[in-house]
Amino acid sequence: MVGWISKSIVAMTIRMPRWFVGWVSRRYVAGPHLDDAVRIMQRLSKEGACFTVDVLGEEISTLEEADFFLEEYMNALSAISEHKLDCNLSIKPTAFGLLIDEKKGMENITKLVRTANEHNMFVRLDMEDHRVTSSTIQTVLDLHKIGLTNVGTVLQGRLFRTLDDINALETALGPDADYRICKGIYLEPSEIAYTSYQDIVDATNASIDRMLAAGAYCSIASHDIPVIEHAKAALAAHGMGPNIADPRRNAGPKRDAKGPGYEFQMLLGVRGPLRRKLAKDGHRTRVYIPYGEKWYEYSIRRLQENPTLGTQYAKAFLLPWTNRP
Ligand code: FDA
Repeated sequence: MVGWISKSIVAMTIRMPRWFVGWVSRRYVAGPHLDDAVRIMQRLSKEGACFTVDVLGEEISTLEEADFFLEEYMNALSAISEHKLDCNLSIKPTAFGLLIDEKKGMENITKLVRTANEHNMFVRLDMEDHRVTSSTIQTVLDLHKIGLTNVGTVLQGRLFRTLDDINALETALGPDADYRICKGIYLEPSEIAYTSYQDIVDATNASIDRMLAAGAYCSIASHDIPVIEHAKAALAAHGMGPNIADPRRNAGPKRDAKGPGYEFQMLLGVRGPLRRKLAKDGHRTRVYIPYGEKWYEYSIRRLQENPTLGTQYAKAFLLPWTNRP
């Protein structure tokens, strides 16, 4: 019943005027400009959060569009340094041209990662759909090979291949491996991915266990209680936790701007009370801050991917005072 109502609200919202979608989405998107992202980060810093910034946009159709992303991320990097924000960058490899011209895409990503390295800043390659899983992982490996170790990727619990990917990355990078683990937002076919809720949760939890055993830096990106509770228990089993130096024998050297071998990550506007509770308990918590002109496309995609957001939209409309970022 609730699912049906949510889906109907989503179907209606998609047909609503742009201003309406913008008004409701302001909870999930910092705004169209870099200044908006900086303002939100300055505010949320007071809650003890750190951040990763995402310039909205994904697959592009011309390499000129990739130039825009490179420039905007360079601006973000400067603003983060200037305002002394505890923040790293999240990029979509296809927005840098990876699917149009792999060599040029790699060149663009290398430029950004190199500059970030000079600022002692980490860059996360977000994971997109299965067409680019291998090339995204390969990009990280290639960057590490040329000495740029300030880069890591995301693995998606729902994909069958993920445990093998963790093992391969462990072999190649050892203690320098640094992952974000999430369920995976793309609805992948059943030939390559789990498709039911419980299977996806179980597989994501198994990935968390494997990463922790591998000594990797592990960013747990989920708002789902069974995943978060599993992660907390797994961390405790490894003797890891707030304010404890990473005790794993195979762990990497302590890197600047990182937690004790792990952190929790959440999206802007989602389950703030849970994030604040984790932070209050001493866990390092990072908020994913999307901003950019493409806020409309991003909001519609989020809605289509997660129809339960429909109820949140209805709440924002009926109880507008609850709709703050
Ligand atoms: P689940 O979807 O079960 O959500 C649990 C509850 O959280 C929901 O019932 C709802 O209340 C709330 N919730 C979840 N998502 C919400 C939203 N968007 N808005 C409002 N409420 C929401 N995926 C990917 O494929 N590649 C990537 O690179 C990333 N990167 C990434 C970074 C970060 C920081 C996060 C938190 C997530 C991602 N993801 C991602 C997305 C991830 O794969 C997954 O699709 C979402 O986090 C939703 O899964 P949950 O584990 O949160 O559980």
